[in-house]
Amino acid sequence: MSELRELYQEVILEHSKKPKNFRAIETANHKAEGFNPLCGDHFTIYVDVKDGAINDIGFQGSGCAISKASASMMTQMLKGKTETEAEGIFTRFHDLVTGHAGDGQDLGKLAVFAGVSEFPLRVKCATLAWHAMRAALNGDQEAVSTE
Ligand code: FES
Repeated sequence: MSELRELYQEVILEHSKKPKNFRAIETANHKAEGFNPLCGDHFTIYVDVKDGAINDIGFQGSGCAISKASASMMTQMLKGKTETEAEGIFTRFHDLVTGHAGDGQDLGKLAVFAGVSEFPLRVKCATLAWHAMRAALNGDQEAVSTE
């Protein structure tokens, strides 16, 4: 198990150092900001939805390694998915990091966040970008808070 944990940590560090889709999207027709009041970290999520599917998704802002890695992997996971599929993945990911799901193997690479459920404060880090993504798809204009 500790080897697996080390591997998970490496994946998270790698994504936090070189996040994927770390960019604003000019053609985005959905955009929202997520904010963690506990630390002040915040991300803006940009989503370009075409015909009900996520054509492109990116993010900008600042956050800790876990929040950044989670945002990075979220964008990779959601590109090409329908809005309904994105909502389903949000729920499964939220269940995973709050300890209400199994080991997350059905979530592919996102399973690296399974250990977060042991650290309640880190749950907010892992879900920051996800709340913002959901707010963006819902068309919410207010910044969403993890509180
Ligand atoms: Fe701020 Fe993780 S410490 S989002």
